[in-house]
Amino acid sequence: MCGIVGIIQKNETKIGEEIIHALQKLEYRGYDSLGVAIIEDDKLIIQKDKGKINEVIEKIDIAPISGKIAIGHTRWATHGPPSKINAHPHVSCDGKIAVVHNGIIENFQELRRNLKEKGHTFSSETDTEVISHLIEDFFVNEHLSFREAVIKAIKQLVGTYAICVISTNAPQRIYCAKKDSPLVIGLNSNRIFVASDIPAFLDQTQQVVLLHDNEFVEIRSDGYNIFNLISMEQITRAPYTVSWKAEMAQKAGYPHFMLKEIHEQPNSLYNYVRMKQKSVKKVAEKIYVAERIFFVAAGTAYYSTLTGEYLVRKFNKKLSQSIIASEFESILNLIDENTVVVPVSQSGETMDTILGIKKAKEQGASILSIVNVVGSTITRYSDEVIYLHAGPEIGVAATKTYLAQTIANWDVGLELGLLSGSFNKTEYESHRKKFNQLPKIVKTTITNNEVQARTVANWFSKKKSGFYLARGINVQTANEGALKMKEISYIHCESYPAGESKHGPIALVEKDFPVVFIAPKDHTYRLIQSNIMEMNARGASTIGVIEENDDEIKNLVTWSFKIPQGYSEIFSTIPYVVPLQLLAYYTAVKRGYSPDKPRNLAKSVTVL
Ligand code: M6R
Repeated sequence: MCGIVGIIQKNETKIGEEIIHALQKLEYRGYDSLGVAIIEDDKLIIQKDKGKINEVIEKIDIAPISGKIAIGHTRWATHGPPSKINAHPHVSCDGKIAVVHNGIIENFQELRRNLKEKGHTFSSETDTEVISHLIEDFFVNEHLSFREAVIKAIKQLVGTYAICVISTNAPQRIYCAKKDSPLVIGLNSNRIFVASDIPAFLDQTQQVVLLHDNEFVEIRSDGYNIFNLISMEQITRAPYTVSWKAEMAQKAGYPHFMLKEIHEQPNSLYNYVRMKQKSVKKVAEKIYVAERIFFVAAGTAYYSTLTGEYLVRKFNKKLSQSIIASEFESILNLIDENTVVVPVSQSGETMDTILGIKKAKEQGASILSIVNVVGSTITRYSDEVIYLHAGPEIGVAATKTYLAQTIANWDVGLELGLLSGSFNKTEYESHRKKFNQLPKIVKTTITNNEVQARTVANWFSKKKSGFYLARGINVQTANEGALKMKEISYIHCESYPAGESKHGPIALVEKDFPVVFIAPKDHTYRLIQSNIMEMNARGASTIGVIEENDDEIKNLVTWSFKIPQGYSEIFSTIPYVVPLQLLAYYTAVKRGYSPDKPRNLAKSVTVL
């Protein structure tokens, strides 16, 4: 996730050193490029490049630059691949205005078109660059004061943002604004900081002012003023003292990144939903006409593709198959120019997946990928890319990117359903309405199940093994639930289609053996009930992930997790996995393991 920082100080010192130091404190958020803007002797100096901070400062000596005012940025690419040109800060045509930004400007295409017609020249592919040009336009062409130009420009933006602006037109100020993306102020006797996250300045001050949505802030070296961006009324907000240690602050107060990322899921799903990517339709259209459709991925990403495989079969009425990336070789003889291959990957760097799509491409297949990391290797081999927009995931165990991968598969599925006539426009609109509510449903699911997850985890943590069972589309949920438990708590868990458990695995069941059932009220419901009774009859302790009003199954199982109603038939793979993520997390913690760094595992597997 991008990191922003701004510093304004009373004395002219090596502010380059200060801004780099603050950016280093934001490195944990993940980034692919960085940059700074500093006002030195009434000149605006911009330094930026692709790469990590240490690599960049080896090439560009930023530290000795002196001044009183600077802004900096670490970028996690969303619009345009990682590159020097796309790195922030972005400047106006006259080079006098610099902007750093966190978030997504949804109307940037339209703003960019208008500004180009007025003669502005753009040098990057980013959404952010429109901001510096807009401010310039209002300042130069409409002769507004610089402050008014900034305010007017911000009011034109649709989307999410935390923005910092500096300019030689107002060399004693940092102007900031916030909507949906975080922004905080830090104060000490010599400096005022503004940053996307408290760790940026925590070693220099614990005095913090949290900014709220739709606020505009003017920062001077001797103080700050906050205004409501809509009414422009001034707001008084005194600083408070944070007691967090640096590590705790990086995790926004959560004890582990994994828990933070589970809680970030409503937000990352919301980011995905509102992007409405054009590539989704294009991918659906290509799948619709293809002869053969293969999904390819590894681990958690592979499980998400089972939604895709299922939906293509259901809506496109064609045989499609998900292949574990390391087994891709076995279907190579089926691949030609009438084949579509859909790689799904968080990192875009999983070697097994890369190798598969390389060969598929050589044989003429179209590569339509679903990836989180912009500009990663898989995206470069792809004919179309759907981005997850989930932000960087630090916990090794995938959580928020799994939900994002699954929602992306559903997104394509809905388009396919419409194309193939599996549902009409009215039904499509009603599905879309529910789809857009998924972030909210996931939020409620987290809130309603966290305490229960802790309770069940206390019991599960003493077990040596367990089963996760489901039918239909939720076999993938069972797979992912069992994988999460194995990965971080080291309890041996297996997942099966519930009907298959009778053909062997049930032999392991004895008194108090844990069996988790994913039991939405869909066509699988009655058979799942029978499977629960079979397990109960053999002494198992059963756990049900059920719809919130489902007293029938609630009375059959020992423990239950409750999912809001109305998400059983469609989209159930999204909320039903959430309690299982929480269960795995709290079980690992109870057993004394660190969920963020499971033994033997790497975040990205770049070897075969
Ligand atoms: O970066 P990718 O999505 O391609 O990674 C694939 C798997 O290595 C990954 O999902 C792995 O299974 C995770 N540790 C699961 O939590």
